[in-house]
Amino acid sequence: MLSYLHGYHAGNHADLIKHTTWMAVLDRLQQKAKPYTLIDTHAGAGCYPLDGEQALKTEEFKTGVSLLQDWQPEHPILVRYQHVLSGYINEQQYPGSPLISVSQLRDADQLHLMELHPTEYERLRQSVKRHRGAGHTHIHHRDGFEGVIALSPPKPNRGAILIDPPYEQRKEYDLVIQAVEQILKRWPQAQIVLWYPLLSKRAGDKSGQSEKMCETLSQLQNNVLKAELCIDDPINDTGMYGSGVCLINPAWQLDSIVDDMLRELSPKLGDTAKASVTWLNKNDT
Ligand SMILES: C[S@@+](CC[C@H](N)C(=O)[O-])C[C@H]1O[C@@H](n2cnc3c(N)ncnc32)[C@H](O)[C@@H]1O
Repeated sequence: MLSYLHGYHAGNHADLIKHTTWMAVLDRLQQKAKPYTLIDTHAGAGCYPLDGEQALKTEEFKTGVSLLQDWQPEHPILVRYQHVLSGYINEQQYPGSPLISVSQLRDADQLHLMELHPTEYERLRQSVKRHRGAGHTHIHHRDGFEGVIALSPPKPNRGAILIDPPYEQRKEYDLVIQAVEQILKRWPQAQIVLWYPLLSKRAGDKSGQSEKMCETLSQLQNNVLKAELCIDDPINDTGMYGSGVCLINPAWQLDSIVDDMLRELSPKLGDTAKASVTWLNKNDT
């Protein structure tokens, strides 16, 4: 069942924490000249019109990217993110994770994008074709959980994976854990960035699932960090009150980089917005 369409949610607060953290991961990889491989397991359509029917129906972008108008960030990674955004926002478009990755590819880098929904896959192909940068981009019409395991370890085996499922079905939380287990067996040093929603009681049996999933993931590997951005208090029972990213094998200093970045970003998202960065498991040896 593929009913989720990211166009209804593009540019919301959840996209901002996901995309700025992903940008920080790419920045760390670029500190060395050695090429890297990026894998995006749930790529979406690549680019989303903010004046389109889907975006205007929910207006979720008003909880995120709309609040960044006239923004002059100081943190260098936020400056880079804003630079990528500015190429799209003037045309009322929001760039998804594939286009952020494409914008940061160097000649020898590899990017694998996986998308299962037939229409979103076709739109992804068109958006990447229009915005292709350097490097090598491979677009797969396949299940991202199966695809990432099949490609692990890639060549070059220095790199990062973005896992961003829609969590429409409860079983996706288990599929994430199974996929991460399999990836780490094949590619132990992979940097994994996993996005998850923070859901209040209104979400029924999905409420609390992300917290359990992160706890299980933290037992699989020694270095596991989480960064969260909440725009409301769960007590208000607004459904998705925030979201987070779980980082497995984060690069050196990524904890303080993401912390600094989110401290600067969160006040832009309203008086109740709060960010935190916490180690779930840290190997100090
Ligand atoms: C949250 S959206 C992705 C957004 C994108 N990562 C971004 O940040 O711009 C999730 C996408 O996963 C796709 N999808 C759902 N199940 C999938 C699967 N098993 N494998 C690959 N794609 C899947 C959906 O069609 C949807 O486009």
